[in-house]
Amino acid sequence: MEQKQSIEQFKGRARLPNFAIPRRYDLHLRLDLSACTYSGTVQINVSIVEETKFLVLNALELDVHEVCFTNSHGQQYRPSDVVLDGDEEFLVLVFDQALGVGEGVLGIGFSAVLDAHLKGFYKCTYLDGGEKKNMAVTQFEPVDARRCFPCWDEPALKATFKIAVDVPSELTALSNMPIISEKLDANVKTVYFEESPIMSTYLVAVVVGLFEHIEDTTSDGVKVRAYCPVGKSDKGEFALNLAVKTLDLFSKYFSTPYSLPKLDMVAVPEFSGGAMENYGLITYRENEMLYDHLHSTTARKQRMAIVVAHEVAHQWFGNLVTMEWWTDLWLNEGFATWVSYMATDILFPEWKIWSQFLQQTTGGLVKDALEQSHPIEVEIHQARSILEVFDDISYKKGSAVIRMLQSYLGDDIFQKSLSSYIKRFSGKNAKTEDLWSVLSEESGVKVSEMMDAWTKKKGYPVISVKAKEHILEFEQTQFLSSGLQGDGNWIVPINFSLASYDRHKSFLLETKSREVDISDLVDSFDNEQLWVKINIYQSGFYRVNYEDKLAARLRKAIEHNSLEATDKFGILDDAYALCEACEQSLSSLLSLMDVYRKEVDYIVLTNLINVCYNVVKISSEAIPDSANDLKQFFINLLLFPAERLGWDSIPGEDHFSALLRAEILQALVIFGHDQTQKEALDRFQTLLNDRNTPLLSADTKGAAYIAVMRNASISNRKDFESLLNVYREANTVQEKERILRFFCIFSGPGYSS
Ligand code: BES
Ligand code: ZN
Repeated sequence: MEQKQSIEQFKGRARLPNFAIPRRYDLHLRLDLSACTYSGTVQINVSIVEETKFLVLNALELDVHEVCFTNSHGQQYRPSDVVLDGDEEFLVLVFDQALGVGEGVLGIGFSAVLDAHLKGFYKCTYLDGGEKKNMAVTQFEPVDARRCFPCWDEPALKATFKIAVDVPSELTALSNMPIISEKLDANVKTVYFEESPIMSTYLVAVVVGLFEHIEDTTSDGVKVRAYCPVGKSDKGEFALNLAVKTLDLFSKYFSTPYSLPKLDMVAVPEFSGGAMENYGLITYRENEMLYDHLHSTTARKQRMAIVVAHEVAHQWFGNLVTMEWWTDLWLNEGFATWVSYMATDILFPEWKIWSQFLQQTTGGLVKDALEQSHPIEVEIHQARSILEVFDDISYKKGSAVIRMLQSYLGDDIFQKSLSSYIKRFSGKNAKTEDLWSVLSEESGVKVSEMMDAWTKKKGYPVISVKAKEHILEFEQTQFLSSGLQGDGNWIVPINFSLASYDRHKSFLLETKSREVDISDLVDSFDNEQLWVKINIYQSGFYRVNYEDKLAARLRKAIEHNSLEATDKFGILDDAYALCEACEQSLSSLLSLMDVYRKEVDYIVLTNLINVCYNVVKISSEAIPDSANDLKQFFINLLLFPAERLGWDSIPGEDHFSALLRAEILQALVIFGHDQTQKEALDRFQTLLNDRNTPLLSADTKGAAYIAVMRNASISNRKDFESLLNVYREANTVQEKERILRFFCIFSGPGYSS
């Protein structure tokens, strides 16, 4: 009774009590792939830091057989009670005699089922010459290492890991570190890996399967390998090349070499996310790692660069320096996102990836305008809710506020500070404040004062701007998509251009409102040609609400093609958000959209298409009669770029034409443009006769498949059946995934756009 009460004291806390600290794990997993089970032993070197009768660690869905604690004098202690609490996800070991302060080794024997739930140590299947076979993969982040072996499963409880696995002799076994030796016993081989440097449990990984690999070496001599399905290793070349280049690039950018002797990347056939940055062993969904120049779209190629750069960046930001607790997850994900754009911009300057970064910013602005949003630094009350924090606030708002800070402090200071931060916290854990203090030291700016409201509070401001003769008036309030307003007390880095990009000003808005004199920029502001654009290049995480007079001038500037693409994107994005929040009328939004009629820029047009989708979606529910007129208006807006691009790629055309063609054709089909729909169906017919027809490329197939699905109905299943056949016959993940995505577009009852 007394004991049970004592166990109660550990319940309902997000974090483990700290009687003992793990230092080293010696883990041996014995896999039975045909029975889909495994057994394991783990010897954990621990420091007992407070005399205790309890050891509390994490375990979930494990059968624990044997437990023994041995202290540094060789005395053995067996627990009188072993409690596995499935709700709390912990394993409590109760000892009759207190364990004294000092070093010891905790040995645990356990076994578990290798299920197919895509987390912990799980089973997935692959085809070996048409035969389905099992392989095993780990996915531990955020809190599923505890499903694989008992451990102190918190990011700050770093330790070294020495891993060994028993696997069928014909399979490849991979882990974080290189193999040191292998021992064969009949048809089971034991693979021993080198001991890792100090690292967090969520980054431990094991993969066992049948692969074919290709390899390359970085200029620092790090061996990089891409493990692909058998027969598909050529498809790993693009990712391999990206990994080698980004490893070199980040070693320089952070002035710190990559800390492990090798980096492996594996394409996993069944995977819950896109990719996972396990230390030295990055795992990917097949479609995120395998590039097929015939079947992968241009958008996919670009995404692959971002994904590889993101996971490689984590090897420093996340793996070498780790967040102290999941509250600071954004330090991992926001930074990896931001830095992946930086690397992609260096590797592919022609993609102008920073202008596409605005899709991240907008994604963050949309989610953070909801009353249900949360601060970037989020309180975590329960382990199982951590997964919810991997959201647009951590990734998109996180990366966007980093970009805002970087443009305020300047690239050089920012880079210097980041490499100091990485050096200072190497092998350790850090909090948001730690990063701010390094940035403050290097820049002389009081960074936490400026950033606290952005990371500790949810939401962001909308800046209302009015002009009175030679004065601009700025006022901030919180922006909410419901139209309600909260208080505005952010410290906002504001910049603006007046009539030309050479004439600009910047200041920190530190109060609710402020007036700025512009007489040094222009003699008189009366002239209607004089536009003013706030938030130049959209580098700030806020929205702008221009008074009517200023909005009209901006419309003219767009018509006269005086603005940069990023600014044209921002003006439209803010106008749509204000309209959705009932701060502006639909007719003013439509008259703004109308000035984008001659637009050719990819980033502006994708935003225009998105706004069209949103307006159709909202209005077809609110004012159903208007939907067709609106669709026709949007079709007319898109016809100019559509006619320019056509269906077939033009030899030597730029990256953006390929990206844009895919999106515009899809939009025209979705809005019901007869000619595009008909052309799409005709081209689909040619594809049915010849799967390699040049009339449909990876980029234009999407539009054709949408047309097929829109044409299908309960009474007309013919085209749908044909598409189903194309799916069944496809032998690339790219084609299969594309078709799967479009199967859900069905214009039967209930489908509205
Ligand atoms: N660390 C994450 C993987 C992850 C996500 C683990 C959610 C647990 C829960 C990884 O670095 C990541 O962010 N992956 C993204 C792709 C990335 C390029 C944005 C993903 O999986 O979608
Ligand atoms: Zn990430």
